[in-house]
Amino acid sequence: QTPSGTAPVIAANGSALQGVTSKPSKMTHPSQFTFEKELGSGSWSTVMEATHVATGKPYAVKILSKAQLIKLKKVKYATAEKDALVKLSGTHPGIVRMHAAFQDDTSLYFVLDLAPHGDLADLVKKHGSLSLRCARWYTAQIVDAVLWVHRMGMVHRDLKPENMLLDSELRIKLTDFGSVYVSPDGDLSPRASTFVGSAAYVSPELLNRASKTTSSSSDIWAIGCSTYFMIAGTPAFAAINDYQSFRKIEALDYTFPEGFYDIAKDFVQKLVVLDPADRLGVEPKSSPSELRGHQLFTGLAYSTTPEESDGTPV
Ligand code: ADE
Repeated sequence: QTPSGTAPVIAANGSALQGVTSKPSKMTHPSQFTFEKELGSGSWSTVMEATHVATGKPYAVKILSKAQLIKLKKVKYATAEKDALVKLSGTHPGIVRMHAAFQDDTSLYFVLDLAPHGDLADLVKKHGSLSLRCARWYTAQIVDAVLWVHRMGMVHRDLKPENMLLDSELRIKLTDFGSVYVSPDGDLSPRASTFVGSAAYVSPELLNRASKTTSSSSDIWAIGCSTYFMIAGTPAFAAINDYQSFRKIEALDYTFPEGFYDIAKDFVQKLVVLDPADRLGVEPKSSPSELRGHQLFTGLAYSTTPEESDGTPV
């Protein structure tokens, strides 16, 4: 569903699919690219830096192996990822754009914006931790992009610093929509779900065997965990293995290191809350505008709609 009062999501030239598959320089086959270095990989996909030969432009191409998708029963995840990227592409500066999608006998290919500065996890690892100024600048952009995804009727479900890329201007671009939930009707209220996501950032409601539910509130939890990570330099629920992380999450067993900025602590404590209904920004008890209005962001101008947003702090 298109949120009311905003720019059309689908380009005026016709269908959303057409918008991403038949750009002027038609990208239709892997032979049109030269593949350079690997940027990342998972069990069924690899992201490669590639140059589009006809234009000389660099992209990140996500290559999904059909055999692995079938073997690992992940076909529906690949379909959901493509559907989500088709719907979201070009609608918000904080979301990675898909320029084309095509396939050959062995693989699916998603041609994405190249984020030349890597991801937020690498940035934090490089610096040890981020200043309050940096953390709030990135958090504001993450909040803005995630709330947009929710307004578009989707839940990312695998938000973590590794999936928050940094573009040429060091602005956040969310990526990896492989775990996305796309609501058929825009309704994001809690519903039965299987576990998806990454151990240290998964919300407690997804761990409860009896009542596994997912909603947009799971992404809110992950934003809080990401802000914690930026400032602490380690995940809130880091443990020696996934099982131990899950135990800590269920018990809300985490502490703030000394020197953790009070205003960021307040923010994290309002998002990293066991009951999904009690998290800042989650309706009906709170609202997206309350989340945007948190004191962490005071003095930062960031927009409520992508049309107004150039992401620059003032
Ligand atoms: N790693 C995964 N996706 C990427 C992208 N779009 N740009 C740079 N690195 C990535």
